[in-house]
Formats: sequence, structure tokens, C-alpha cells
Amino acid sequence: MLTNGQDRPESVLRIKGKATLSGHVPISGAKNSTLAIMAAALLCSDSTRIRNVPAIADVQTMIEILKAVGIKITQSSGALDIDAKHISQSHVPYDLVNQMRAGFFVIGPLLARLGVARVPLPGGCAIGTRPVDLHVKGLQALGADVIIDQGIVQAYARHSRLKGAKIYLDFPSVGATETLMMAATLAEGETVIENCAQEPEVMDLANFCRAMGAKIRGAGTKTIVIDGVTRLHTTDFGIIPDRIEAATFMVAAAITRSTITISPVIPDHLTAAIAKLEEIGAKVVLESSSRLRVEGSPRYRHTHIETLPYPGFPTDMQAQFMALLTLSEGNSTVKETVFENRLQHVAELCRMGANIKLQGNIAVITGVSSLSGAPVMATDLRASAALVLAGLAAEGETQMQGLHHLDRGYDQLETKLRNLGANLYRQPLGSEQSAI
Ligand code: EPZ
Repeated sequence: MLTNGQDRPESVLRIKGKATLSGHVPISGAKNSTLAIMAAALLCSDSTRIRNVPAIADVQTMIEILKAVGIKITQSSGALDIDAKHISQSHVPYDLVNQMRAGFFVIGPLLARLGVARVPLPGGCAIGTRPVDLHVKGLQALGADVIIDQGIVQAYARHSRLKGAKIYLDFPSVGATETLMMAATLAEGETVIENCAQEPEVMDLANFCRAMGAKIRGAGTKTIVIDGVTRLHTTDFGIIPDRIEAATFMVAAAITRSTITISPVIPDHLTAAIAKLEEIGAKVVLESSSRLRVEGSPRYRHTHIETLPYPGFPTDMQAQFMALLTLSEGNSTVKETVFENRLQHVAELCRMGANIKLQGNIAVITGVSSLSGAPVMATDLRASAALVLAGLAAEGETQMQGLHHLDRGYDQLETKLRNLGANLYRQPLGSEQSAI
């Protein structure tokens, strides 16, 4: 049964260091694909089934958002049945979108289906201001009148149905590409979106829409062309494996100098992570088209990472690799170019003995021989994963708080790590005295 994994804020994760991992870890469905595909199910005036859905808090929040607009949803192990025949509401409650930015992605499908959508501005989050101007500009190009009033984005299709258009994105935003691609599936005529995001999750969303009868070409390239249709039909669709979860476990093997196998994976989706791991001295072996082995090494060289839109190095892996580079020899640099405030884990890693200097959006990391366990606070989803990885490698014990961040996007991370031999345990805050 899918659980919301919502954690009570007072819990602490205790991580015993100097872990050695071994064995195999199964990878769940992709969070960032699932959330967009759940929004896209609104485009279908029938029911759809989505399989390989991860058991994470963000999925529960999206379920609440879909229910808030009147959708019927049933959950079974790893699957969702979404009946979107009748959408009774065009507006989404603020408290749900405020919890999860991806909630804003329903604006495209609602507008395409109903001709009207009223969705709260998602507002900023720990990693940046996260504006939605590219979404809004694109919807206006598709023939919507958009008013932002009292924090609500109100969009109305001028001619009750959106009209195909040529759209150029100033930045290859994942969310804007997804919103506009979804809106254009039911628009009249052809839409061309230039300078698109090419992330695998965008391609998975396009495949889902096509499975419902949408006419979409070019997903995964810089130009997506959509020929609008009047109606979409039911489908049964399996979500791709989560490349960020897979890469997180690849770093877990490297940082603990261990050997583990990971599947299912789509190796092409991991090219940047594999390249950087090999560059510093870890070994990555493709055992089959969907399974890889990572062999950690006793010593790592330094390297330079710059986050970029796909196929560049993913910003969602920046923090985890930074944790690894704290234990690599020499000076490495990590430059975060996608989000303006995604280096908050630096201070926490320094609490564990890392030597990192910040120069604007560049972190200069001077390798140290070891980290030491400490009480740390997770500030966002990927920062929380990085601190868990650092805790596994450190001397002694790390106590991590802010676990709601972790639960938003990792499906049973602790259980999977324990099955690989790690010693970590969640406890109510204040009961740390008793030894693990
Ligand atoms: C998606 O966020 C992912 N989230 C993020 O994953 C991921 O980090 C990001 O893409 C980049 O890969 C989901 O898919 C749910 P963007 P999204 O629009 O769509 C600016 C994780 O850890 N921008 O590509 O919100 C924006 O401020 C999460 O799993 C505008 O300026 O990302 C940012 O600086 C975190 N105007 C940059 O573009 C806009 O209208 C990239 O944002 C839209 C975006």
C-alpha cells in the first residue's frame, strides 16, 4: 500500500558511519516523471492506470491536488487508477501547491480540458525563487488570458479552446516544457516549442500522452511539435526508473568504498554521473542493459562539476557528488548554475569536517582524509540525501533532522540502505541517548 511517508518533524535519523555496503538495490519509479504524468492524467476524459509509482510524500500531495479538483483515484501497490472523466473544480487549494511546486503543473491540463484554471503561484522554496513566468508566457501564446491576482494564476482560454502556437523558451525549463506540452495536446492546430528541456522525465511524459492518443514529436530534443487533438483515451503506463535515486546509490557505493549492483536503470540517463564517477577513480560496469555495478575505490581524484540542463550534469545530483568530493584528493569545484540557492548543504558538510569554501555559486572543495559524525539539519530533498551519504562514510554517528525533506522524494531510502548493510535508524527526537 502506498504510504504518504509524511514524517513527524520531531524524528531524527541516526547514521552509523564507516559503513560497508554490498548486494543489490532495487530502484523505484521516477518521482519527477510520476508527478508530471499524474497531472497529465487530467487531460484524459476517461480513466488511466499508472504503474511503478514511488511511495513518496510528493505523490500523496499530488493525489490530494487531483482529488481537490474532483478526480477519483484508487491506489494499489505501486499503481494509481485515475478517473478524470469529470473535473468538478478549476481551482487548486493554496496549501497543497505551497507544499509542492510540481502542483502548479496541473495548470496546463486544467486549462486544456476546462478552458479555465486557477492555480496558486507556487512561491519560492529552499533552493530558489522558482518563478513560473515561462509557463505563463507560453500559455498566453496558446491563447489564454492570464491574470495573477492575490497569489493566484487565473488562466482563461480566449476561444474556449487553446490554439496552437510557436513558443521559444528563454531557458529550457523542465516544468514550463511539461506544462506547455500538456496544454498543447488538446489545443487547436500545431504547437512548436523551441529551446525545450530534454530531460528523460519530459520524454516519459510525452510517451504517456502519446499512449493516450496525443500527437507529439521531438520530446528529448530541443524542439517539440504537438498537433492538437480533441480527445485523449485511456491507457496503462509504466513510469521509468528514477535516475536520481539510482545515481544517489551509485554515490553511496563510491563514498563507502563498496561494491553494489543497481537495477532497473536506463544507463543513457546516467551518462553524466557515470562519467564523473569514472573520472575520479570509481569503477562502473554495465552488467546488462538495465543493471549496473559500482565498485568504490580507496582513493579518489579531484574533479570539476558544473550543473546544467540535461544532458548536462544534473543539479539534482550536485549535493550528493559534493559529499563524495569532500573525501577526494586535491581541490574540486562544484558550480551550481540551475538554481540560485542550492548550496545550503555546504555548511552542514563543513560541520562534519569537510573543507569547502563558497565563492558565489561555486563551491571549492579541498579533500580531507575523513569526515566525522555530527548533528546536522537537512534543508532540501537532495541536501538530505547528501548528508545521509556523508554520514555513512563518516567516523562515528551522524544525527540528521529535517526528514520530511527526505520523505518527499526517496522511496524507503533507509530500508534499502539497511538491506545493503548500512546501520541507520529513525528515532523520535529526544530519545537519542540509547545506543543504536
Ligand atoms: C524540475 O523542477 C524538477 N522537479 C527539479 O527536481 C529539478 O531540479 C529541475 O526540474 C531541473 O532539472 C520536478 O520535475 C517536479 P525548471 P522545475 O523549471 O520544473 C527557472 C528534485 O530535487 N525558471 O527546469 O521547477 C527556475 O527558477 C527537484 O527532484 C524560470 O525562471 O525546474 C530555475 O532556476 C528539485 N521561470 C530554472 O529555471 C520559469 O517559468 C530551472 O527550473 C520556470 C523556471
